[in-house]
Formats: sequence, C-alpha cells, structure tokens
Amino acid sequence: MVLIGQVNVRFRFIKVLKSGHKVEVVDGEEMEAIRKDFHGYTTNLIRLTPGRWLVHDRYKNLANELYDFKWRSSDVVVMTYPKCGTTWTQEIVWTMRNNPDLDNPEGATTLLDRVPFIDGDMNIPDDIPADSPFLAMSQGFRKLCPDADPKDGFSLQLSKVLPDPRTIKTHLPFSLLHPSLLDTVKVVYVVRKPKAVAVSYHHHSRLFSVVGFQGPLEKFVKYFTEGNLVYGPYWVHVKEAWEQREHPNLHLVFYEDLKADIMGELRRLDTFLGTHLTDTQLAKVAEHTSFNQMKARSKEYDSFAIPEVIQSEGGFFRRGQSSDWQNKFTPELEAYMDAWVNEKFDFGIQFK
Ligand code: A3P
Repeated sequence: MVLIGQVNVRFRFIKVLKSGHKVEVVDGEEMEAIRKDFHGYTTNLIRLTPGRWLVHDRYKNLANELYDFKWRSSDVVVMTYPKCGTTWTQEIVWTMRNNPDLDNPEGATTLLDRVPFIDGDMNIPDDIPADSPFLAMSQGFRKLCPDADPKDGFSLQLSKVLPDPRTIKTHLPFSLLHPSLLDTVKVVYVVRKPKAVAVSYHHHSRLFSVVGFQGPLEKFVKYFTEGNLVYGPYWVHVKEAWEQREHPNLHLVFYEDLKADIMGELRRLDTFLGTHLTDTQLAKVAEHTSFNQMKARSKEYDSFAIPEVIQSEGGFFRRGQSSDWQNKFTPELEAYMDAWVNEKFDFGIQFK
C-alpha cells in the first residue's frame, strides 16, 4: 500500500510490458479518492515498476508499440518531464532543422503536427468527440493518415508516417523506450529547476479540464515530491538522462540556460544537431522561438483550456520565466522543497 496525497492506494497487478515493467492498476475507491483532486481523470491510472512511473490506463495499450517504435537514424527526439520547456525546445529544434531562414510555410502550421507528441495519445480521453478542438487542429494527422482512426492514437500514427527529417517529442523516460534509442537517434533532454516545474505543472493541471486539478500549490507539490503525478517521479526521469550525459547522442539542456543565453545555447545545439547555421540564422531562430512570438502564434494550445484559469493565471504559455516560482512559494514550502531536492537529486546534478 502506498500513500498518494492523503490517500491509501492499493495496486492490482495486470500484466508485464515488453520493457519489462510490471503494470499495476489504481482503481476502485482509491482511484475515486484521487479523482477528488483530479476531476478530469475519468479513467484509471496505472503504475509501472521499476521506476514507479504513473501513467494513464490507456498507456498499457500503447506501451509495446512505443517501445518497439521504428526510429530512424535521422530522427531527433526532444525528451523531457512535463513543463520543463518541451514546447519551446521542440520549436527551436524543428526551426533549426527545417526553417532556419523562416521562409518555410510549414513553420506557420501547428507544432503538434510538425513535432508529434508520440506518447501524447495516452492523455486523450477514449471518448474524445470527433469535433474536439484537439482533433480539429491536427490537420497533419488528417492529411498524412486519411484512413486512420484517431482512437488508435493519432500522435503515434502521425509519428510513424511523418517524412524525414522527423523531430519527435516524448515525456517518457529512457527506461520505457527501447534501450537502443540513444544509439539510433539524437536526443535533446531538457531539465528545469524542480520548483519551477512544480509551479508550471500545477498551472497546467488546473488549466486543462482533462486533468482538472482542484487545489493549492502546496497540495500539488505533495503529489510532485512523492512521484505521484502522471509521468511519475521527476528525480528518476532526470537521473536516467543524467547517467547518459556523456553519450554523444545525448544533449542535455537547462531551461534556465536557454533563458539566460539563448544564442550560446543555440550554438551548442547547432553543433550537436550538425545544422551548420550562421549567427544570423540562429538569431532569427531565437527571435522566432521567443516566448512572446510563440505565445502570439500558438493560440490553438488554449483552445481546450479552461477560460477562467486563462483569465486569472494565463494560458499554456504562462510566464516563460526562470524565477517566477519565487512569486508562488511560501518560505515553508521552499524549505520543504529544498530538503527534498537535496535528498532526491543526489546524483550530481546542480540546478541553476
Ligand atoms: P511557465 O508555466 O513557467 O510559464 P512544456 O512545454 O514542457 O509544457 O513547458 C511549459 C513551460 O515552458 C511554461 O512555463 C511555458 O510558459 C514555458 N515556455 C513555453 N514556450 C516558451 C518560450 N518560447 N520561451 C520561454 N518559456 C517558454
């Protein structure tokens, strides 16, 4: 039995995945209790061990396909725990590879189509209506998979047929993907200060009704520090990447470094990706992917968000700052998080 927030949770074993993870389902009364905090969770959660990854029930049907996904050597994967700056990095990487002179009309299409979120399907309710804004904005799926049923996972299907060069986003940790991944593709892994991740993830979980979190930051931080949010323990996610940081196909980026020195970070990325861009091109990429520009042209991200939360706290593009967490943390909560960071991130990483 495990404590989730204030709830005693029992797990019921159901199967073993190709990755070797044991799948246990959180259901019944326990799931009902979690739903009191997360109103959008209409289906069950499952826990994958080792790692104690917490994912939606739908993941168990996608897991083996994701594990066996046919990566191409030209692929670049943007991998992060949620809210570390994935969207920003996706746009940076795609623009560097596909649109460095900002003259590619595809650059104006939605990022979700250009850089599919390969495991994103597990976050979409089974009963998604055909006229959902989420599906409506996925024109790439409609175009490239005209006969496919979105219920079979539209991001996964889109990822399979996307032409080269593919840039693909995942929130999965290394251990849920095939062990040959890093020997096959380049991975850009983004990390962010845990307090900023918690603030941003709290906002995200209130913003989208499919999550529907109801409660203050303090309560959310408890879920976060206990590894009981979807995508599981942040410290294990980061540790798995940190252990691979010397691998030539892994490029580790700190969100805070992107904010502090975008040109320096773009030059580092340019070397890693082998894009050979000039400083003029990199400056264009920096401008095009700035917070204000991305926010202005990515309105579709808020089309399925809760308007009252957008009004009071902002939308998907909330603040885009390194230190905004300071406006949200009480001294007590900060002390609690500092102690937790010292305990869990004891493998050498120094957050900025
Ligand atoms: P905040 O909530 O702190 O504003 P993800 O893309 O992984 O969901 O991360 C989202 C976080 O990155 C949000 O942080 C969001 O505002 C921020 N972000 C998105 N685009 C950005 C950009 N171009 N520049 C800086 N931050 C950006």
